[in-house]
Amino acid sequence: MTKELKSNRREFFKSAALAGAGIVMTPALAMGSGDKVQLDSASTLPTRKLGALEVSGIGLGCMSMVAGTYNPTPPKQDMIAHLRKAVERGVTFFDTAEVYGPYGSEEVVGEGLEPFKGQIKIATKIGFEIQNSQRMGRNSSPESLKGVVDGCLKRLRVETIDLLYLHRWDPQVPIEEIAGAFKDIIAAGKAKHWGLSEVAPDTLRKAHAELPVSALQTQYSLGERFPENQILDTCEELGVGFVPWGPTLRSFLTGRFNAYSRFDNLDRRSQLPFFSPEGLEQNMPFLRIVQDWSQKKGITMAQFSLAWLLAQKSYIVPIPGTISPQHLEENLGALKVTFSTSELTEIRSEIEKFELLGVRSKESALVDQ
Ligand SMILES: NC(=O)c1ccc[n+]([C@@H]2O[C@H](COP(=O)([O-])OP(=O)(O)OC[C@H]3O[C@@H](n4cnc5c(N)ncnc54)[C@H](OP(=O)(O)O)[C@@H]3O)[C@@H](O)[C@H]2O)c1
Repeated sequence: MTKELKSNRREFFKSAALAGAGIVMTPALAMGSGDKVQLDSASTLPTRKLGALEVSGIGLGCMSMVAGTYNPTPPKQDMIAHLRKAVERGVTFFDTAEVYGPYGSEEVVGEGLEPFKGQIKIATKIGFEIQNSQRMGRNSSPESLKGVVDGCLKRLRVETIDLLYLHRWDPQVPIEEIAGAFKDIIAAGKAKHWGLSEVAPDTLRKAHAELPVSALQTQYSLGERFPENQILDTCEELGVGFVPWGPTLRSFLTGRFNAYSRFDNLDRRSQLPFFSPEGLEQNMPFLRIVQDWSQKKGITMAQFSLAWLLAQKSYIVPIPGTISPQHLEENLGALKVTFSTSELTEIRSEIEKFELLGVRSKESALVDQ
């Protein structure tokens, strides 16, 4: 039976966090499906628009809540507490995908956010074949796209997905046909908005002409700036929001690593030229700019990197991925940082002097990834 818990929201979060840390099992974590917490109407964070979708100015990337990218799978109860703490702090935008895990990230996001159903926005992505719990190739066929959505809904424990992206385009299927499949998914009430990831401006344009796109999700940060070649302008022209993944350049910009850092082969960074010994040697001096500016502004390097992204366009919503409550808190601090026009010009002239190893070329922006 549905139980409406309007009681003390602060108490709810306090108990959830303690339970997440393994301290005590509380009624909050013992809540059954259907139990709800009514959020205060006043959001504590500034919001931004992705098309017609309004979300907190910074979202939470939930990819590393399962193994497969940067860290082993953390304890599920810790991630549930982390997700709930994010809601308490005013985060209303959560990013996951069917292939993270596969399925595990959607499952923990679904369980963690269930008490706030309808009051926060969840984005997920589809478009890869999954066989025996392994991520296989791309599959953008309309039958497959329409077929997998029910599984996402079930894992996320929602009746409708706020933002459903095509994770990667399989060019064997015309983008117009894919837009048609998303149109059917939305018409069936299974999603509210749709998005694309890592597509070229022309593809975005064609897709948008068929069915208005709310957001494009592509890698973008102070160090990885290829979307500045036509991608951001196209989003602006069409009224499509832009969601940068990798906004801290996989933690590089936070100052966490040095030239001697080496990565475990279960960490995706071990396979990327950017983080190879040669890459780190060439790229590390770039951090002097980030360090100098964060000192000047009295903020951390992570905050500077995220605030710089926010300052580029009003329709940009970064989704830093973190499994650390401290990093989440630090990252949200970026929403308070402002830059003058002359500061932005100065920063730009400094970053453009650098050639980083292992970043994508400007031209790659015009090619579907
Ligand atoms: N569309 C796509 O193809 C695509 C591809 C990749 C990712 N994504 C989405 O985008 C999200 C973010 O991308 P990402 O995780 O690859 O890159 P990211 O957010 O730039 O980097 C994540 C890494 O940064 C660390 N980190 C975060 N905040 C930090 C801080 N304040 N100080 C120090 N380290 C910090 C995290 O470690 P801790 O956990 O220890 O904080 C993690 O190792 C993902 O979660 C996922 O939802 C989408």
